[in-house]
Amino acid sequence: MGTPTTTATVTEKAAHFDHLDTEFAADPGPVWKAMRSECPMAKSTLYDGFWVPTRYDDINEIAHDHERFSSARVAIPADLLGQELNLPPITSDPPYHTNFRRMLLPTFSPKNMKAWEPTTYDIANELIDAFSDRDEFDGAREYAQNIPITVIARMLGVDENDRDIFTSWLRRLLELGPADREDAQKAFIELSEYLSDNIQRHRAEPTGDIMTILIDTEIDGERLDDSSLLGACQLLLIAGIDTTWSSIGSSIHHLAKNSEHRRILVDALDEPDGKVWYAAMEEFLRVFAPVTMARRVAQDTEMRGQCLREGDQLLLPFPAANRDPAKFANPDEVILDRQENRHYAFGVGRHRCLGSHLARMELEVALRALLRRVPDFSVAEGTTVRYSGGQIRGPREMPLTKHTT
Ligand code: HEM
Repeated sequence: MGTPTTTATVTEKAAHFDHLDTEFAADPGPVWKAMRSECPMAKSTLYDGFWVPTRYDDINEIAHDHERFSSARVAIPADLLGQELNLPPITSDPPYHTNFRRMLLPTFSPKNMKAWEPTTYDIANELIDAFSDRDEFDGAREYAQNIPITVIARMLGVDENDRDIFTSWLRRLLELGPADREDAQKAFIELSEYLSDNIQRHRAEPTGDIMTILIDTEIDGERLDDSSLLGACQLLLIAGIDTTWSSIGSSIHHLAKNSEHRRILVDALDEPDGKVWYAAMEEFLRVFAPVTMARRVAQDTEMRGQCLREGDQLLLPFPAANRDPAKFANPDEVILDRQENRHYAFGVGRHRCLGSHLARMELEVALRALLRRVPDFSVAEGTTVRYSGGQIRGPREMPLTKHTT
């Protein structure tokens, strides 16, 4: 969908709206803008049809109402893997969701995540060491991608040396999957077998990591069944990697293009209160929000004059909410010291991201470590940065050149 001109053309084009389209992924802002003003509850005919709300208030209302909008379906196309996904807590509704989430919350508390900060700096610095003798490096593949993978592998208690395999499974599932469903299903089976083997190993030798906590935990006096246990591990791996990798990558891409913002952040590296950095991280999370979810309409309902029927699919684009001019002045601009910033990068309501403290820590550490050692860089001449389309959007190839000043 390109830049539309009239209401009729926007609505017509919205009927072919495709969140998996790579052209859309390269620059979604203008498409969200046109849809938000001309058809705020659009309907795409693709993938068996799905609704696309784009206004902040509507997305807020939907995310808070599990009775009308169920999380039983969080991906479009829904039949990507040939089965309904069981990835608790994200694919569940209350009351099961409430109990499951409560069980995981302490693990991802701000205090626990802060304790991982030194390890995350070590990981980031090791990655920078690996390209320290080169003028060029790939900011997505050699840097952004590897930080969340290594951290979550250590937290879960699986071998971090398998990170190339995780990346390949996630690419086959999330990025290439819609075009090659057979291979996506194969990747999902491989990932499931890998995690099941690890669960067995943890049962035999408890180690105190998240997998052990999940094995030992009880909800209403009962241990998790095998499918829920496996699903939770799958979710933590999937939710913990591509999302943060995308946020780190998009922020680095922005900094590669904006020397003024780079300079402000470099100058503020040693500020004791960290206020400049805090505001900048929230702004990067808002503008480059990587995650779009989905819901299934659970009861007939009306919104923005449209009749949504039970069973309909609905895309929940948090990134579109974050660019709503009704909530954010100059929403497409990166305003590094934006003061009012109640963004929905981590969602809102019951399913709001459980890993937000981890993600924030990883994003800030990744950017601080890079800017301290590579304060000046740009996109390598004659190259293009390639963004993944779909429900998790971020740069997947990003050749960068270092400059010495
Ligand atoms: C910048 C990085 C991240 C972003 C933008 C992000 C975004 C989101 C969003 C939008 C949701 C809401 C889903 C919905 O409403 O259906 C969510 C849920 C979730 N996220 Fe994240 N996430 C990030 C990183 C992480 C990390 C590092 C983890 C941990 C390993 C994680 C674990 C989860 C879990 C478990 C849920 C489900 C919560 C529930 O259903 O109650 N996320 N995330």
